[in-house]
Amino acid sequence: MEFQGSHILSIEPFERGDIEAVFDVADRMAPYAHRRKATRVLEGAILGNMFFEPSTRTRVSFGCAFNLLGGDVRETTGLQNSALAKGESLYDTARVLSGYSDVIAMRHPQEGSVAEFAVASRVPVINGGDGSNEHPTQALLDLYTIRKEIQSKGKTVDGLRIAMIGDLKYGRTVHSLCKLLRLYKNIKIVLISPKELMMPGELVESLREVGHEVIISDHLEDNIQHVDIAYSTRIQEERFSSPEEADLYRGRFRLNQAIYTQFCEPNTVIMHPLPRDSRSAARELDDDLNENPNLAIFRQADNGVLMRMALFALILDVVEQVDKYARDVPWYTSGRF
Ligand code: NCD
Repeated sequence: MEFQGSHILSIEPFERGDIEAVFDVADRMAPYAHRRKATRVLEGAILGNMFFEPSTRTRVSFGCAFNLLGGDVRETTGLQNSALAKGESLYDTARVLSGYSDVIAMRHPQEGSVAEFAVASRVPVINGGDGSNEHPTQALLDLYTIRKEIQSKGKTVDGLRIAMIGDLKYGRTVHSLCKLLRLYKNIKIVLISPKELMMPGELVESLREVGHEVIISDHLEDNIQHVDIAYSTRIQEERFSSPEEADLYRGRFRLNQAIYTQFCEPNTVIMHPLPRDSRSAARELDDDLNENPNLAIFRQADNGVLMRMALFALILDVVEQVDKYARDVPWYTSGRF
C-alpha cells in the first residue's frame, strides 16, 4: 500500500505488511506523543478536522496528533454549524475545504459519505467514522493495543481469542476490527450480542472464509471464559429509530468485577472503544473495574494519538524527517505514560 497522498477510507486495502509499517511508525512517535520531545516537522500544514457527529476521543486525538507534529488544526463540528445545513453538497464542501487544508479527517452519520467526500477532495481524507460502516483508524489503534497488551503475556495476534460484546450490528469499530483480523491466522472470535444486533452476516462469513473460528451467542458469562480480550461496545442509540428502541438492549451485557473474577481467565484484557455508557440503565463496563490492571480502555485511548500521528507522518511523507525537526521540551513532564 502506498501511504503518501492516500485516503484512508476503509481498513480493507491494508495488508499485513502495511499494518506492521504503521505500527513501527507509531512506536517511533512515542517520545512526541508523550510530550518528552517536540517536533515542528509539519509546521505550516493544516488539518481540516470535520466532525459531523458527536466525538471526543477521535476528534481530539486527530487534532492533538497533528499539533504534536507541529501542524495547525481547523475544526468544523456539527452539521448545523456548516453549510451542509444550507443544502450544500458534500462535493462542494470537499472542493472548498480541501483548498484550505493539507489533509482532512472527517466523521459523518451517513455510510459511504466520507468516501463520497474524498472523491471530490483535493487532499487526502481520513475516515473518522461513517455511520455504522467503518472506523479504520480505531481498528488500527485497537489492534495496536491488543498486540501490546498480549505481548507482555507472551502471546501474538496470530492465535488470538477475542470476544466482541454488545451492539455488533451498528458498531463501526467492531466492523473494521473484524476486517483487520482477517489478515491474521487462527483466530477465535466470540460474537456476543442480542439477536437483533448481531454482526452482519457477510462479515461473519468473511472471517470464516479465512479459517477463523466464529462463535455467535447472546449469552455473556458462558462465552467470556476462554478469551484473551473482552472487547465491549456501547449500544449505538443514535442509529435506532427512537431512544425507547435502544432501551430494549441497553444494560443487556454488563461486565463488572464480580463477573470478571468468576468467569474470565485471570489476565483477560478488557477493551472498549469508548465512550462507555455509564448511565445506570446501561453500564456495559462497570466503574468497579477501574482499578483492574487488565482494564486497558485508557491505554487504548492514549494509543489513538500514536496511531494518528503515524498515519499523518506516512500520508504526508515525513516519517524520516520527524526527528530532524525535534527538540527537547523545556516544561515539566509528569511521566504519566
Ligand atoms: C466509537 C465510534 O464513534 O464509533 N467511538 C470512538 O470513536 N472511539 C464507539 C461509540 O461511539 O460507541
